[in-house]
Amino acid sequence: MSRPLPVLITADQIERRVGELAAQIAPLYRGEPLTIVGILTGSLMFLADLVRRLDGPLRIGLIQASSYHGTQSGTLTVGREIQGDVRGRHVLLLDDILDTGQTLRHLVEHMRQLEPRSLRVAVLLRKQGKQRVEVSADFVGFEIPDEFVVGYGLDYNDEYRYLPHVAVLPREMYSERSGMEPHANPARH
Ligand code: XMP
Repeated sequence: MSRPLPVLITADQIERRVGELAAQIAPLYRGEPLTIVGILTGSLMFLADLVRRLDGPLRIGLIQASSYHGTQSGTLTVGREIQGDVRGRHVLLLDDILDTGQTLRHLVEHMRQLEPRSLRVAVLLRKQGKQRVEVSADFVGFEIPDEFVVGYGLDYNDEYRYLPHVAVLPREMYSERSGMEPHANPARH
């Protein structure tokens, strides 16, 4: 059996923090049309837990960022979108983790073009000292060190998403085989 990964943030800490975020977010939208848009797939747990802490009518949308394969730059593009018309509605864009900021900046620009009434961003995790691209998050669950993390929706090769907590993937687990860092921003799925 493989050994358990070191826990960085427990399920209890996540539950408490999501409750705190909901308490900050709810008063901003009371009675106003709101669509919460989760970025696939890593934000699914965060989305499910957050919306259940917000009372009041809201819609749920999903959006995917994909990278073009076969290009050197790995340019991001918008993939599947399931979010209805957000024009005139407040939008809260949710992501699992803010790393370099490339993904969020791209999706923020895309959402702006859809003319929402307002646009805010919430991320569960923000890696300290990693942001390379100008993008700000209005709500941040946890600041974390520069480690590759999995669980609570975040994956490594599509594994570990089911964990109820956030764990660190030890470097030897990926560097032994590939000698490479896990790709922090693969074609998102
Ligand atoms: P950027 O660099 O665009 O990256 O801010 C954001 C996306 O990259 C993925 N990512 C991670 N996924 N553990 C993961 O499972 C990590 O430590 C990690 N860092 C970045 C993730 O898809 C995120 O939304």
